[in-house]
Amino acid sequence: MVEGPIEFGEKITLRFDVLTLFPEVLDSPLKASVVGRARDKGILSVHLHQIRDWAEDRHHVVDDTPYGGGGGMVMKPEPVTRAVREVRRMLGEASGGVPVIHLSPQGELLRAPLVDELALLPGMILLCGSYEGIDERAIEAVVDREISIGDYVLTGGELAALVLINAVARKIPGVLGNEDSAANDSFEKGVLDFPHFTRPAQFEGREVPQVLLEGHHAKIELWRRREALRRTALRRPDLIETAELTEEERRWLRELDEKERG
Ligand code: 6GU
Repeated sequence: MVEGPIEFGEKITLRFDVLTLFPEVLDSPLKASVVGRARDKGILSVHLHQIRDWAEDRHHVVDDTPYGGGGGMVMKPEPVTRAVREVRRMLGEASGGVPVIHLSPQGELLRAPLVDELALLPGMILLCGSYEGIDERAIEAVVDREISIGDYVLTGGELAALVLINAVARKIPGVLGNEDSAANDSFEKGVLDFPHFTRPAQFEGREVPQVLLEGHHAKIELWRRREALRRTALRRPDLIETAELTEEERRWLRELDEKERG
């Protein structure tokens, strides 16, 4: 089912291989927008693999009832391990630096530093579980790392894989149109993004902040930084704890405390 020996292309800087029972969930989101364009341009590649294709019985059964009882179904270990090993084999030599990542609510939380780390890899094999999950022995046998996208439960790893691919893809040079804009994104400097405005200058009685209309770039930078810090302090005080701030920035926040939080 795997389309022949696939090589790491010349322009391709990152290759994702996704193993799932529901490739159709990933297919169209990966063809649209920024990620779709990056694939068209050959900057990154995503290959979807149907785990069911590695079931060996006549009916291609991939799940079974849990030992110990309780509801739901568990993904059988054989098709999963076969699928992972076959994709690895297909990647050949280059697969050495390619980790197998299981998307799971039991995994390490996906945050900006982890996204940056993953963007340095040549590729990754993303394993998506469904139902109650994958037999633990298959995870022990073939998985290098488990990653979660947040403290809530999804019906399967597919949407989490899409989130991971999207977040990692936009870190690859050439994927975003304007590499400049990414430098200011939320979390890039450990704080939230500043607010953005475009024409018209007046909208439903609301004005664009005057400083942005004046074209004084140093003033604009200062205003944006202060706004970013202000919103972070108000909305995500937890991020302020770990953000790297200058003495002047800490002073702004103390002043803000007095003004806005009393
Ligand atoms: Cl990676 N998988 C599932 N099924 N649910 C999740 C998740 C992953 N991350 C958060 N919730």
